[in-house]
Amino acid sequence: MHIPVLLEEAVVLWGGLEGGEERPQEGIYIDATFGEGGHSMELLKRAKEQKIKIIGFDLDKVRIKKGEEKYKEEIKNKKLYLISQSFQNIQNAIESLRKKEDFRGLPVLGVLFDLGFCSTQLEEGRGFSFSDKEASLDMRFNSSDKEILNASEILNSYSKEDLEKIIREYGEEKFARLIAGAVIKARQEGEEFKKVGDLYQILEKTVGRFYRKYHIHFATRTFQGIRIAVNGEREAIEKGLEGAKNIVSGGGNLVAISFHSGEDRMVKQFFKLHSKECICPENFPICRCDHERTLRIITKKPIVASKEELLINPRARSAKLRAAQKII
Ligand SMILES: C[S@@+](CC[C@H](N)C(=O)[O-])C[C@H]1O[C@@H](n2cnc3c(N)ncnc32)[C@H](O)[C@@H]1O
Repeated sequence: MHIPVLLEEAVVLWGGLEGGEERPQEGIYIDATFGEGGHSMELLKRAKEQKIKIIGFDLDKVRIKKGEEKYKEEIKNKKLYLISQSFQNIQNAIESLRKKEDFRGLPVLGVLFDLGFCSTQLEEGRGFSFSDKEASLDMRFNSSDKEILNASEILNSYSKEDLEKIIREYGEEKFARLIAGAVIKARQEGEEFKKVGDLYQILEKTVGRFYRKYHIHFATRTFQGIRIAVNGEREAIEKGLEGAKNIVSGGGNLVAISFHSGEDRMVKQFFKLHSKECICPENFPICRCDHERTLRIITKKPIVASKEELLINPRARSAKLRAAQKII
């Protein structure tokens, strides 16, 4: 089961309810990471009779198919529209959708990003979880995408330097060099990386002992790094945030929940950059940039889960929510 993280906090900000309003205003609300639909259904519940339309994106076709079956009524009543695409195409996708009769004249009033993966995806034998040792090392959110390398192809083909880079930069793993070296050595000895267990064993042998004193599992960071590389997650977030900023109307909110420091840094820097009047170097006597302030940061510090939430949802422990409002 997937329990939506920071549900109340996210829905209040996504729905523009932070001033105490009871219902979201009439308009379009985009759920960039639909998943199991937890946040979307909560916003629809809050809307009651108010005419809001949610457009949900997910790169994972399994999530979209499941959503289409589970939320037939909402789809039939034109409250929910599901799109099997990456949020990195959010701007183009929304611009063409808004030409359709259903959306004409409606402003986009909020965009929510709940990054990463759902708990349900961990249970589908797709290589996201290191507890299922027999699962294939895939890790693609869109498992029919032949254009990208899956985890097994990355482990079997990348150079030592490239492996070290993704494990260090995306996984924030300080033993990245050791791990990359061990993968290359195993390959030279004829090992092929096919199943989760193949990578798990190498990690256990190489860094298992160093992790005994830490609270984090020795495989977590390497799996995270490889998953981010497989799905091009950094680039998708960059394009997704930019697209979301461009399509949301003045007064609408952008909300992002991230689960590790690399993601959170991207969101924080993006909001900071677009909330500045000028981005000239400090030593410039007069402003020479054409930068325009488009956002107002709502959350000076990120919102984190309460003790009560952590008791029922341990996945929330690393979640950080940031929000910003479009001002023009
Ligand atoms: C944490 S889950 C979202 C859970 C959802 N908020 C809920 O309450 O059920 C993240 C979802 O984002 C999807 N995802 C990851 N990268 C994506 C991308 N680039 N574009 C669209 N969806 C993406 C994943 O497939 C996953 O279903």
